[in-house]
Amino acid sequence: MKSIFVAGLLMATSVFSAAVPVSAAVVSAAPHKRQLESQGSILDNLYQQIVAQTTQINATRDSAPENPSVLEIPGIASEINKNFAAITEALKQAATKSEAQRNATPAVAARQDDGGDDDDGDDGDKCDAACITGKVLDIVYEVASTIRSVIEKFGLAPFLLRINPLLLALSALVIGLDVLVSGLLLTVTAVVNVILGGLGLSLLALGFAAA
Ligand SMILES: *[C@@H]1O[C@H](CO)[C@@H](O)[C@H](O)[C@H]1NC(C)=O
Repeated sequence: MKSIFVAGLLMATSVFSAAVPVSAAVVSAAPHKRQLESQGSILDNLYQQIVAQTTQINATRDSAPENPSVLEIPGIASEINKNFAAITEALKQAATKSEAQRNATPAVAARQDDGGDDDDGDDGDKCDAACITGKVLDIVYEVASTIRSVIEKFGLAPFLLRINPLLLALSALVIGLDVLVSGLLLTVTAVVNVILGGLGLSLLALGFAAA
């Protein structure tokens, strides 16, 4: 079971690495470098917020008994659901910032064209299309693998109402970024399907088109 899962992951990863050069090539002429960099820092920030929540989720999961009773599950689920709700909120805020940033392109691009490199000198962080894809996949792996481990231990039912909006918010963020990094949604969908497929979630309805 576990090895099938790992093999699937490896397959998805090779889909990912095959997709990156194409995305990078498609994109290099279009969005401006500075724009991708600010998207990158939105994603870094989001990842940190998510890890703060998944750390708590994992602690709750690990401190629960191996086979929790029907009576124990609601209390555990309400803890974890608060963290899922916080992740959803963070994803929505990141999507809003990401969109605002995309809409601000012209001004940013003009400023970028007139100066030398690294004029702002804040972090010097370079982020191209492949780098955006990597950051998004880090987020997707973290979120999806945590969801999977929770469902495997406690079942889907107590979490369904929180996980659905969470995955919708995730797909909305990715769909927005797909404008800048073409092929991103396809890549993410492949990974989400590998990690969360077969757990009873209707991934297609949640914005992850069958890859
Ligand atoms: C939480 O657990 C999942 C599943 O084991 C793991 O993939 C994820 O990285 C963990 N997150 C943290 C912050 O420990």
